Amino acid sequence: MSRLRVGVLVSGRGSNLQALIEAAKDPLYPARVVMVCANRDCAALEIAKNAGVSRQLFRLAEFPDRKARDHAMVKTLRLHGVELVVCAGYDAILEHAFTRQFAGRIINLHPSLLPEFAGTMDAVAQALESGVAETGCTVHVVTDDVDQGPILAQSRVEVRPDDTVESLRERIQVEEHSLLPAVVKRIAGQVLPLRV
Ligand code: GRF
Repeated sequence: MSRLRVGVLVSGRGSNLQALIEAAKDPLYPARVVMVCANRDCAALEIAKNAGVSRQLFRLAEFPDRKARDHAMVKTLRLHGVELVVCAGYDAILEHAFTRQFAGRIINLHPSLLPEFAGTMDAVAQALESGVAETGCTVHVVTDDVDQGPILAQSRVEVRPDDTVESLRERIQVEEHSLLPAVVKRIAGQVLPLRV
């Protein structure tokens, strides 16, 4: 079975990267993580290392500008034969130079029910403050309009009266850890063709 080659972009804890790596331990899972790119030193790089996955740090300070950094990432991902790019807690906006190269082949995980609480790194806190009865997480296709690309799947999470940002985030992440591998599986099986 040929498995979809996935590149994951990370900036933080890497729990969703871990979830994808775990899913791919099943030999019948139709995708595998072949490259991890980070824009900062982060725990996710350790997760990649421990799993024996190729990884590379692309610190902005080491490049003339964002475009050059993103171009270097594209080159590395291409060298590893990446067919699908997953932004899993990646906290930088991708340059057009990047999105053009993988058009329709980049997905992002966002901790809200998009289009609610789009374009923010603070979606969980905003949901809590706004008093909504439910929030959740979304996997969507990345386009040049931040958090506006076509929605592929969502999971809903109830907001409880005693929730804190941390408790709500924790329950959203539980959903993310099954939603993301499920969407990647569907893409790999071409049940869900990517369109932009
Ligand atoms: C996730 O909650 C995701 O929705 C957001 O960043 C978080 C990344 O978490 N974009 P982790 O690094 O995968 O643990």
